[in-house]
Amino acid sequence: MVTMEYIKETFPEIGLIENKELAEGVATAWKRVMDQGGWETLDGIPFTLLIDNPEATLVQHTRMVTKMAIAVAKERNDLDMDLVVSGGLLHDVGKLLEYDRVDGKVVKSEFGKLLRHPVSGAGLALELGLPAKLAHIIAAHSKEGEMVKRIPEAILLNHCDFIDFEIAKTK
Ligand SMILES: [Fe+2]
Repeated sequence: MVTMEYIKETFPEIGLIENKELAEGVATAWKRVMDQGGWETLDGIPFTLLIDNPEATLVQHTRMVTKMAIAVAKERNDLDMDLVVSGGLLHDVGKLLEYDRVDGKVVKSEFGKLLRHPVSGAGLALELGLPAKLAHIIAAHSKEGEMVKRIPEAILLNHCDFIDFEIAKTK
């Protein structure tokens, strides 16, 4: 089983979350999906299955989106920074449930065919007792969010996620 130290080293931005209970919850969510899916490492897991051999891994994409969102939120100064950081770090946490590894290749899991990562990630956040606003950001960061009124932090994460995804598609 993966350790909390591994999660915190992999995602150093967890240390930027001021609310320590929230920071612990973010690390726990990653640990939970890794343990649940039997993932021993996050190395080499692609951030999307919609692009053939994307350059970025799930960890690199998650950190890039989080760091871009932090930069914008700093400039604006009217957003909840803990929500921005935790939302960035967890927006794709459900991907480990959406994915499976078959013969060394990462593919869509049977579970993932039923529930995409915004839904499973939001469900996990609620299960762990994380704030509803954080579950909202996870649920609404992708096209699933088009049916709800996104809070400002969710608007930010939605755009930062798509900036990274759309640029990756051009490569
Ligand atoms: Fe993403």
